[in-house]
Amino acid sequence: QIREGIHPAEICDHPADHIRFTPPDGKSVFFTPYLRGNGIRRALKIGRQAIIEEIKIAGLSGRGGAFFPTWKKWDACRSFTSDPKVIICNADEGEPGTFKDRVLLNKQAGSVIEGMIIAAFAVGATYGMIYLRGEYQWLLNHLEDELVAFREAGLLGKNIAGTDGFDFDIRIELGAGAYVCGEETALLESMEGRRGEPRTKWFYPVERGYLQLPTVVNNVETFAAACRILEMGSGEYCKRGIPSSPGTKIISVAGDCQKPGIYEIEYGTSVGELLDMSMAIDPLFIQVSGPSGETLTTTDRDRIFIPRSINPEREIRCGGSLMVFSKERDILQIIMNFNAFFKHESCGVCTPCRAGNFIIQRKLEKLRSGLADHHDLHELKSWTHIMRKSSRCGLGKTAGNPVLTALEKFGEYFEGTYGAYHNDLIHPFDYTRA
Ligand code: NAI
Repeated sequence: QIREGIHPAEICDHPADHIRFTPPDGKSVFFTPYLRGNGIRRALKIGRQAIIEEIKIAGLSGRGGAFFPTWKKWDACRSFTSDPKVIICNADEGEPGTFKDRVLLNKQAGSVIEGMIIAAFAVGATYGMIYLRGEYQWLLNHLEDELVAFREAGLLGKNIAGTDGFDFDIRIELGAGAYVCGEETALLESMEGRRGEPRTKWFYPVERGYLQLPTVVNNVETFAAACRILEMGSGEYCKRGIPSSPGTKIISVAGDCQKPGIYEIEYGTSVGELLDMSMAIDPLFIQVSGPSGETLTTTDRDRIFIPRSINPEREIRCGGSLMVFSKERDILQIIMNFNAFFKHESCGVCTPCRAGNFIIQRKLEKLRSGLADHHDLHELKSWTHIMRKSSRCGLGKTAGNPVLTALEKFGEYFEGTYGAYHNDLIHPFDYTRA
């Protein structure tokens, strides 16, 4: 069953779908004029090994948020001999506040499809699938039309682009509204017709994925970037960003800002620059990479976006979203909403995630009612640690992040507003501070 969503027309016309900013001087990777087939033709010309080399030089890493090096994934899949192999585009973009893949699929679907075809050629895959988020059903016809255009241009199907024996085609599978299906093994289960629950990870999908076949699962943006890298060449791509982290990243910005939308930033851009570009209004609580990501404050303005952060004081990695909450917002309500989301979306298979989210909810309610003491605070923190260490998948591992970071970064706020947990006094909830 597909959850009730916003009407498609509302999404298409929504100001948040606007591409607000791309790097100047023609440095945009994603939102430059796109000519179908250029990336594929270059890929076929340079050959499998060179494609993987190009992706490696460009430093492309998984844009779903884990930033695993794409070349390693493709190379590993290529090395397995079982046949056939599968390419899956993870378009189950469910992280609250994240809508970059939606805009890419709406405005640049060709580059995503082309990236999948390039990956198929590089690893020797025959089948491709796009797992489209159920709420994005309104994009289905548009994507089907794009696939037809590729087939008509001889870029999908048999003997692609005049080759002798490179056969590959793509079909679309629709999700049904479960956030956890964005986790790649739950996604595979769902695609195989089972309940979308994460697998116990004995194998990576590159070895045993869809129907136990070698499978590359990559995010929408990763495929689009791969297409553009092959099109322009890794040398040109590396002129963007900073030497240690070349390239650009798409970030969806939403919340209390005057210019919500899609921002393609060069790596090395700072949090403050992005806040200024989007005209953030009195930012207090800034959530990067959605609720499962990291909470920032204005003291983090100088941290720069890079894919693999080594120095957390100076750098930050971002899966694809920045949510701005102004000083007018109630911090506790924000984290209660995040927690309600995770509790609802937990598949319930593993105890740390199922029980942990429930217990966190109860503790937050206690905090709200002014009845919490320092034991509750301690238990809240320890549950987030238990969940991080022992949950089966990313959902449970990251669900406690907003609680933990809010308590760390806004200790004073909680102390002042909700009282008591430091000195064991019970304070009534102060509505004037909410
Ligand atoms: P992971 O780090 O286990 O794996 C990342 C990717 O690399 C997967 O595709 C995995 O199959 C592959 N991989 C890892 N090691 C490999 C190896 N040795 N050989 C071949 N392939 C390998 O992360 P996971 O569990 O896939 O995702 C968790 C991440 O997702 C978190 O870092 C979190 O930031 C992010 N996330 C993103 C969300 C979003 O909406 N974009 C939502 C929630 C979490």
